[in-house]
Parts: sequence; structure tokens; C-alpha cells
Amino acid sequence: MDNKYALVTGAAGGIGFELARCAAGDGYSLIIVGSNEDRLKTAQKSLESEFPVNVVALVQDLSVPGSAEGLYGEVEKRGLDVVCLVNNAGFGTIGPAETIPLDKDERMLTLNVITPTELCKLFLPQMYQKHSGKILNIASTGAFNPGPYTGSYFASKSYVLSYTKALRYEAKSRGVQVSALCPGTTRTRFFEKEGMDTPVWAMSPESVARAGWRGLRAGCGVIVPGMMNKLIRLVPSGIKTFFTAQMKKSD
Ligand SMILES: NC(=O)c1ccc[n+]([C@@H]2O[C@H](COP(=O)([O-])OP(=O)(O)OC[C@H]3O[C@@H](n4cnc5c(N)ncnc54)[C@H](OP(=O)(O)O)[C@@H]3O)[C@@H](O)[C@H]2O)c1
Repeated sequence: MDNKYALVTGAAGGIGFELARCAAGDGYSLIIVGSNEDRLKTAQKSLESEFPVNVVALVQDLSVPGSAEGLYGEVEKRGLDVVCLVNNAGFGTIGPAETIPLDKDERMLTLNVITPTELCKLFLPQMYQKHSGKILNIASTGAFNPGPYTGSYFASKSYVLSYTKALRYEAKSRGVQVSALCPGTTRTRFFEKEGMDTPVWAMSPESVARAGWRGLRAGCGVIVPGMMNKLIRLVPSGIKTFFTAQMKKSD
């Protein structure tokens, strides 16, 4: 699988780095993408030392409009054959809706919604042409209910889940498999960036990524890692909405 690349956005750390490890373990060469050059180079070195695959690191701030086209152009210019696309990069915003700065929500929505949508649209035609390929979009268990005090983030993940299910339907007869991974609370830099402590019950990014990769390989549509998250999915939406509000409300 030497020249077959898996492109993983947000692969410098957290769930994305672990998904890149899963892909490399299956023999895919890697294109890892992140906004911070130092973190990305560190991840590249670590992946290259662990796996005998090519690892191409592309620095790109995917929260900027037009960045998906910029990334696609760079991949095309280098002649890299992307057979697996993992849209993982994302962050959350918290607080009462009117207090979250417009530009912060805009960047979050571009990163979580616009860029993955555009990357799917850009890479799908060549996958359809070859009648093969895989796309894994990272949503969240937050996609299943509204999230007061993190409303735009939860809504962005509902979009990812809905869009992924729609694409999956379209792509099924054209040889391309599209799946959504819906992690629950996971021990990464995610909560720290939101300004919160990581809850003690958080899953490890390794186990989340392994479940996601297993699900992708098995052709699952919606992958919810961990027994607790699977059970929480069954809880009525109104109850989950209430508990999300308690968790995300700052005072
Ligand atoms: N942790 C959780 O509890 C949890 C739960 C459900 C869903 N998720 C989702 O899982 C995905 C991965 O998050 P994580 O938990 O692994 O968090 P993380 O450790 O903060 O990782 C996020 C990744 O995205 C990259 N990224 C952030 N901003 C970027 C930008 N503007 N351009 C390009 N890359 C950017 C980061 O790298 P750089 O900062 O170096 O660019 C990093 O590699 C996200 O979509 C998140 O919404 C997380």
C-alpha cells in the first residue's frame, strides 16, 4: 500500500494522532495536517520512527475559509493518492451563546463544518472514479442532542453526523465507504482548550481511535466508542440536554 495515502486532519495529537497510528499500522502512508508546525513535526517524527511508511506533514490552518482548497491543491501538486480521508480537526466553544466572540465561533464552524464538507467534495470525485475509498468524519456524542452553553459546537457535530449519513447513502453504490465516529468525553487537549478540566471518566484517545478504525474497516455507518457512550446514547435527549447545560455552565 506504499503510495496509498490516508490524509488525517488534526493529527498532531489527541484522537487524530491515534487514528494516524491506526492507519499507518494498516500500511497506509500518511498525510498529517495541523496548524502548528512544531507539534506537527514532532508527530511526524514519532510516526516515522514507529512505522515503515511515508509521512508527509502539511501545515494548514483549516479554520480559515478556502483552506480546504489550499490543502487539496498541495496534495495534488505533490501527486499523492489519497484513498482514505479522515476529517478529525476540531475544537469547541463554550459559554452563553451571546458571549462567545463572533470570530471564535466563525473559526470553529469553518474548521468543524465547512472544511470537512469541502474536503469530502474535493476528494470524492477521484474516489468515485476508482470506485474505492474511505472517509471517516469525526462527529461527537454531542451530535445526538442540543448542548446549552456549547450550542454552536454541538450543532456543528449534528451537522457532521447528518452530512456523513447523507454522503454514506450517496456513496454506497459508487464504491466509497463513509462513516462517522462519535466519541464521548476523551482525554485530549480538547477540554483544556475550552478552559475546562477533563472529566475523570474520559476515555483514552487510543481506545477511541481504535474503535473508530475498527468500525471504519468493518463498514459501520455510525461508530460510538465505549460501552458507557453507547448506553448514554439511549438516554432521552431532554435529559442529556439538561446535564450538558450543568456541565458546561461556568457558575
Ligand atoms: N476530546 C473529546 O472529548 C471529544 C469528544 C467528542 C468529539 N471530539 C472531536 O474529536 C476531534 C479531535 O479532537 P481531540 O479531542 O483529539 O482534541 P485535540 O487534542 O485538541 O486535537 C485537535 C486536533 O485538531 C488540530 N487543530 C485544531 N485547530 C486546527 C486548525 N485551525 N487547523 C488545523 N488543525 C487544527 C490540532 O492540532 P494543532 O492545534 O496543532 O493545529 C489537533 O491535532 C475533534 O473534531 C473534536 O471535536 C472530541
